Amino acid sequence: MEIIKVANYEAMSVQGAHHILTHLITKQINVLGLATGGTPEGLYRTLREKINEKALSLNHLHTVNLDEYIGLPADSPASYHHYMHDIFFKYIAIPTENTHLPNGNAPDVVEECAHYEKVIESLGGVDLQLLGIGHNGHIGFNEPGSPFNGRTRIVDLAPSTIEANARYFSSKKDVPRQAITMGIENIMESRHILLLASGKEKADAVKALIEGNVSEEIPATILQHHPNLTIIADEAALSSVTRALPTI
Ligand code: PGA
Repeated sequence: MEIIKVANYEAMSVQGAHHILTHLITKQINVLGLATGGTPEGLYRTLREKINEKALSLNHLHTVNLDEYIGLPADSPASYHHYMHDIFFKYIAIPTENTHLPNGNAPDVVEECAHYEKVIESLGGVDLQLLGIGHNGHIGFNEPGSPFNGRTRIVDLAPSTIEANARYFSSKKDVPRQAITMGIENIMESRHILLLASGKEKADAVKALIEGNVSEEIPATILQHHPNLTIIADEAALSSVTRALPTI
């Protein structure tokens, strides 16, 4: 694993955008895995600017998102479809049909999970997967206790995740209780992973990810076994890690 320690959220966002841009330009990746949440917002803002500055052609690129709530219409402001459109897709010249998210509003969500697996497979898998990390160590919506061999499926959200995500809804009771998420096995199959973390409230999860025992109770710990993992995290998120890391 490569760990890049930066001063703050802004620096994490810029470094993260640069990392993805480098993959887009020099490795000519075809499939980019995307994440939602507060953490990557700054990255998307920087990345869309850089893509447009460089007039990068994205006609060949497909994106696949990690997850989506079940039961929210795609145009609900809290849906991840809406999030992605609003912060990234509407600013860049990517064909809409190349942007894939699970449909949490499908008539048959079990069938939708199988369909999403086929989409990823037909694209040849994910070249670079962007990840955040939950306070409880979740990745995607793979909550503590998720099997390491899990694939795209319906999951119940942990109470701490409902709490953390309530800020995007008018009240906690409006947060959907279930989601479709790629599984940990899907995430581990990505050829490269970029994980971002910012803030003191992520420090325990980040310490476990870097220095903890690998355990399904803290799903992100499995990433220790990934051959191409890059972590870009700020000083606060890395504040509990014991090994010495210089800030770049
Ligand atoms: P956050 O969520 O970026 O909103 O903190 C991260 C995650 O749950 O993966």
